[in-house]
Amino acid sequence: MSVFDDRGMADQAGDPLFHSHDPIFDRKELLHVGHVPDEDRIVGRDDEIESVAAEVGAITRGDPPNNVMIYGKTGTGKSLISRHVATRAQDAARTNEIDCGVLYIDCSEANTETRATRQLALSLKEQTGYQENIPVRGVGTMEYYQHIWQILEACFDAIIVILDEIDKLDNSNILMQLSRAREAQKTDAYIGVIGISNKVKYRETLDERIDSSFGHRELFFHPYDASQLREIMRNREDAFQPDVLEDGTIELCAALAAKKHGDARKAIEILKEAGELARRTGSETVSEDHIQQAQEVAEINRIEELTSGATVHAKLALYALASRIITGDRETYKTREVYERYVGICELVATDPITENGLYRQLKEQAFLGVIESEKTGGGRSQGSYLLHRLVTDPKHIVKAVRRDSSLEDLPTYDGLAGTTTAGTDRDADLSSFS
Ligand SMILES: Nc1ncnc2c1ncn2[C@@H]1O[C@H](COP(=O)(O)OP(=O)(O)O)[C@@H](O)[C@H]1O
Ligand SMILES: [Mg+2]
Repeated sequence: MSVFDDRGMADQAGDPLFHSHDPIFDRKELLHVGHVPDEDRIVGRDDEIESVAAEVGAITRGDPPNNVMIYGKTGTGKSLISRHVATRAQDAARTNEIDCGVLYIDCSEANTETRATRQLALSLKEQTGYQENIPVRGVGTMEYYQHIWQILEACFDAIIVILDEIDKLDNSNILMQLSRAREAQKTDAYIGVIGISNKVKYRETLDERIDSSFGHRELFFHPYDASQLREIMRNREDAFQPDVLEDGTIELCAALAAKKHGDARKAIEILKEAGELARRTGSETVSEDHIQQAQEVAEINRIEELTSGATVHAKLALYALASRIITGDRETYKTREVYERYVGICELVATDPITENGLYRQLKEQAFLGVIESEKTGGGRSQGSYLLHRLVTDPKHIVKAVRRDSSLEDLPTYDGLAGTTTAGTDRDADLSSFS
C-alpha cells in the first residue's frame, strides 16, 4: 500500500483530473472505522477506562492481572477502550521496567482456535526477534501454543491479550489455555485476557470448566446518549474542511444515532457518508439534508447486512410485510395476512411459494435477527392465539434493502402512498455503491 502511495501523489500533483484539494474532507482518516482516537478525543468513558485498568493494571506493578469480559452493544466503545487501556498499561509497565506485550485478535476473522492461536503466535513473532519459522499452514493448534509459550518465556514479563468479538470463536478452549498457562508451567509470564462480546448471553455458552478457570470479572458498556455522541463527533470535526459542516448537522446526526442504538460507530459512519454525499453532488457544505439521506443509506445497509444470509423467501416475507404496512393502515399484521401478500409477490417474480408454515418459520428467524418483532396475541375464546408481526424500521428501507438482492430488483418500489406502486429501477438509496 505505502509503496503505491508515493507514486500516486507524484502523479496527482499536476493532473487537473485529480483535485489536489478535497473540498469537503481535510483529515478523513479521523472518520475511518478502525481509527483509534487520541486520549483527549475519547468521550464519556472515564469510569469504563478505570474499571478495565483496575482489572489488568496489576501487570504494571509486576503482579498477576484479572481477566475481564466486556459486554455491550456495538459501537459502545468496547474495542476502543480495551486497546486504549492495554496500550497505556504497556507504557506504564515499561516505566517500571516490565516488558508487557499487547495482542489484539479479532475473533470474527480468526474464528477458530487454530486461526486465533496462529495469529497470536505470528504477532508475537513480529513484536520480537523470534527466529523460528512459524508455519502458516499444515500445523495444528498445539504447535502454535508451543511457539506462544516459547516467545512469552523468552521475551515478556506479562502480556495483555484482547479477544474481540469472542463469541464468534467456535470454541473457547483458548481461554482455558491462556488462564492456566502459568499453573501448567508453560510460561512464567502473567497473562491478562480482555474478552469482548456484543452478546451478554455469551457466558452461558461457556463450558463450566472454562468458566471457572477463566474466573473473570464482567463489565457492561451502555449505549451513548445524544450529548455524548455529539461530543464524540465534535472531537472529530477537523476531519472536515473549515466551515463545511453546516450548523445543526452534528446535533441532528447525534440525535438520529441516539434514537436508534446509541452506536458511536453508526454516528461517525453517517457523518462520513453525509460528507461523501455532499462531495458527490458537488455541494460546498454538508447540510442536515445530507445527514438525513446518509442515515437512510446506513439503515438500508444495516438491514441488507442483517438479511444477507436469509433465503429469498425470508426476504420476500419481509417485503410482503413492509408492503402491507405501506399500503395499509396498520403497523402489525398476522402471519396469514403476510402470507397472502407473499403469495402474490411470488407470482410477480415467478417463484414457487413455500407453505404458510414455512413462511411462519422464516418470519420467526427474522424476529431473531431483529428485523421484525413478533408478538403473540390472544384472539378471544373461540379464535385462539396468533402472532402479530411488526417491522422495527421504516418499511421503505426494507423494500429498498430487499431490492438490492439482484434476483429481486424488479420488485415494485412503493412510493409510500397507500395502494400505489411505481415499478422501476429506483436505486436512489444505493448511494453507497459509489463510495
Ligand atoms: N467514547 C468514545 N470517544 C470517541 N470515540 C469513540 C468512543 N466510543 C466509540 N468511539 C468510536 O466509535 C467507533 C466504534 O467504537 P468501538 O470501540 O469499535 O465500539 P464497539 O467495539 O463497542 O463496537 C470507533 O470508531 C471509535 O473510535
Ligand atoms: Mg468492537
